[in-house]
Amino acid sequence: MHNIYEISPSIYWIGGSDRRLERFENMFPLPNGVAYNSYLILDEKTAVLDTVDSSISALYLENITHALNGRSLDYLIINHMEPDHCANIEEIVRRYPNVKLVGNQKTFQLMRQYYSLDMSSNYYEVKEGNELSLGSHTLRFYFAPMVHWPEVMFTYETSKGILFSADAFGSFGAFAGNLFADEVEYDSYYLDEARRYYTNIVGRYGPQVQAIMKKLAGLKITMICSLHGLIWRGENISYILDKYDLWSRYVPEKKGVVLAYASMYGNTENVMNSLAIKLAKRGIKDMRMYDVSKTHPSYIISDVFKYSNVVFGSPTYNMHLYFMMDSLLRELAVLGIKNRNVTLLGNHSWSSAALKGMTEIVESMKEMTLVGTPIDIKSTLKPENEHELDAIADAIAESLKE
Ligand code: FEO
Repeated sequence: MHNIYEISPSIYWIGGSDRRLERFENMFPLPNGVAYNSYLILDEKTAVLDTVDSSISALYLENITHALNGRSLDYLIINHMEPDHCANIEEIVRRYPNVKLVGNQKTFQLMRQYYSLDMSSNYYEVKEGNELSLGSHTLRFYFAPMVHWPEVMFTYETSKGILFSADAFGSFGAFAGNLFADEVEYDSYYLDEARRYYTNIVGRYGPQVQAIMKKLAGLKITMICSLHGLIWRGENISYILDKYDLWSRYVPEKKGVVLAYASMYGNTENVMNSLAIKLAKRGIKDMRMYDVSKTHPSYIISDVFKYSNVVFGSPTYNMHLYFMMDSLLRELAVLGIKNRNVTLLGNHSWSSAALKGMTEIVESMKEMTLVGTPIDIKSTLKPENEHELDAIADAIAESLKE
């Protein structure tokens, strides 16, 4: 049974949700599922903007057939060639053999890599700023390389001011009927998943996100339609633009502390608990604490982007940094996190390597400020060492005042 929604006169959402997929890109947990958005414009010409993941192909193709109501499809705009959006291109070409596949040179390069069917006779190549008239609607193309792949473009519908933004401004999370961000309690339910999506999927490409935001700054945008998650419209648009501006400049959203530790037998965990209590006694509120062996790194990464301060604590393992912590820190470095206050706590019993390993990775990141003198516990925290932890708590509290 089809399931479509007219989001603006003659413009339809024709996507769907997947609540069965365990992990997005086989990496990121999806406790609330994920939505794959696709849109259809009915005018003198018909155009679909992107397709969906293969997991919901059956519903999706039914949606297109129903929405077209017997008409043919003239254009398929391909803003992004990642398989969660491009999986149905070949099937659409088989069903609508005269459809023009609208993309850029890099789009078609990826299309040839993903598909063995030669669809070159359907290619309709556009360049930056080109326009395509559908009748009363006109589509203009803005290239957004590396947001999140090199071929990505945004499509701007000029008559209504609707921006089709590929992955940008999207989120993890399936739909529960409401398609618009102003119809839900976004702050309390969706924002964390939008941040986790951005930071882990697009987080490395902050400069490229800044570039496209500057490129679009003069446009009148009335609606933003991402390929994942809720649609933004009206005054609400500035909310997500402001978040993206902070995230893509690696500016923390709030002053606060994330504590992330690895602990084999609970001793490093005890040090972190002890430090957290000391911080609470110094008036620090709303802290977050994670065991890196327990919590998926995507959640920790998301909070490291959110907060100003982070404390990493880890034991030595096999004469190296405990590998779950090593993995977390290296991924943070890959994502280009910068501009944070970092405190380091090591632990070892017979060979010290964790503190050195953490220090090396953090020092490879840009604009990180080490707060407090790192300590390297020997197996367990002893009362005689507590003054060192007090000094660290003082330093963190002081850094939050700045
Ligand atoms: Fe939702 Fe970059 O794909």
